[in-house]
Amino acid sequence: PAAQPLLGKVVTITAGPTREALDPVRYISNHSSGKMGYGLAQAAQKMGATVNLISGPVKLNAPSNVQVSYVNSAIEMRDEAIRLAIESDIFIGCAAVADYRAADIAEQKIKKQGDEMTLTLVKNPDIIAEVAALTKDRPYTVGFAAETQDVEQYARGKLKNKKLDMICANDVSQAGLGFNSDNNALTLFWQDDQVSLPTSNKNELALTVVKAIASKLD
Ligand code: PMT
Repeated sequence: PAAQPLLGKVVTITAGPTREALDPVRYISNHSSGKMGYGLAQAAQKMGATVNLISGPVKLNAPSNVQVSYVNSAIEMRDEAIRLAIESDIFIGCAAVADYRAADIAEQKIKKQGDEMTLTLVKNPDIIAEVAALTKDRPYTVGFAAETQDVEQYARGKLKNKKLDMICANDVSQAGLGFNSDNNALTLFWQDDQVSLPTSNKNELALTVVKAIASKLD
């Protein structure tokens, strides 16, 4: 049997994109497939954890023996994340959360207008920063950073500004890695440590990431 370093631990993971409605038929979103986050959920479950997966809209089957909550918008994801985070030992934010949503969601389909149209967007809550800011029942908080340049600098900035314990950085400008592909490469950053994980299948990479988290817990 596989080693179970997370036996007795509760792990909550966010995965996939969020969808921010503009009107009844349109939305803003991104290319996250959920593969990385679902891989993490399966890895944590194999390592003995009780796993909650908060999933945006994706085309994947639920991992076995994992409790899945399906959400659409960032606000829905935030509410579910806070509810589950306070019962968790570890929280991993792998979702690609939309930073902005429409200021108003039109009740009827927006009609075609002139040659230009302007959408007003407002900032979404920063889910992982809210989890990391919990004063009571704060879980070990792990973020992801999707960058297209200056990966270490931006990832370390997010680690510090969002007050995370750890961040997993991926360079999403590289073809065949990051959003929607089967493979990824990650650099894990802690305040005083870092580890580079070369390109590999997301499910294998997920096992290494979860092992790294488990080793930092004790
Ligand atoms: O889903 P896949 O197709 O498998 O692709 C995997 C992935 C590329 C989406 C994944 O590896 C990844 O990098 N996820 C984070 C994507 C992202 O939105 O990164 P960010 O750098 O914009 O956000 C930094 C961190 O803050 C992330 O932990 C994110 O979940 C979190 N965040 C961001 C905005 C927001 N409003 N709330 C948040 O919690």
